[in-house]
Amino acid sequence: MSNGAKLIPQKRGLQLDRVVLLGRTFDEYCRYFLLEPEELAGKTVLDVAGGVSSFCAEANTRGIRVTSFDPIYSLTPEEIVERCEPDLDSVYHAIGQVPTYRWDYYKSPEHMRKLRKRASTIFLSDYKAHPQHYISGELPRLPFENSSFDLTLVSYFLFAYQDYLSYEFHHASILEIMRVTRGGSPHLSDRDFRSTTQQISPSAAIGPGSPEF
Ligand SMILES: C[S@@+](CC[C@H](N)C(=O)[O-])C[C@H]1O[C@@H](n2cnc3c(N)ncnc32)[C@H](O)[C@@H]1O
Repeated sequence: MSNGAKLIPQKRGLQLDRVVLLGRTFDEYCRYFLLEPEELAGKTVLDVAGGVSSFCAEANTRGIRVTSFDPIYSLTPEEIVERCEPDLDSVYHAIGQVPTYRWDYYKSPEHMRKLRKRASTIFLSDYKAHPQHYISGELPRLPFENSSFDLTLVSYFLFAYQDYLSYEFHHASILEIMRVTRGGSPHLSDRDFRSTTQQISPSAAIGPGSPEF
């Protein structure tokens, strides 16, 4: 068996023992964030924790000026493949057992696997062709000037791993995202918010008395 991420059985939903290296497609991002691609043409967009998503690659071909940011961009394409393949296997084998998962969009674990594979394949090809679109680093610091981007997206990172990432980490990360975004309003995926409201514990990322969020 691979050394991919492991399920934590007592948790509700798909809870992993670490941040996984999986990527979603442009279409999935548009659905999560309710993006209108035509309205974004010519705009600068930062995809924080972009990972092996194909959002950056697919968006740039549509004239949206996307920069992706993730710690894995310090790795070679081969090293990234070595890490993301086992995570895809783990999640593929586990996801069908999760009773809270809704299948109206993905239809089946097999179809979801195909989409994830498609995303990482497009990503890898673009990562080799346009390395300048992929900046390596880690929240809670972003290596960009104030107000550098029209829009900043975070998909499946903040609020998705609240057992491992503290309130302080989330707070500092969101302030940093606001700093680099014109108008200062981060877009966290709809699902991140649902995960937060459904599963967060009082001691986790959004603690009591935290009006900033
Ligand atoms: C589940 S993936 C999400 C990928 C992509 N956003 C998507 O929805 O398809 C989570 C990503 O968070 C990245 N990550 C882990 N720690 C991070 C940090 N401190 N700052 C930014 N990204 C981080 C991982 O490398 C991984 O690519």
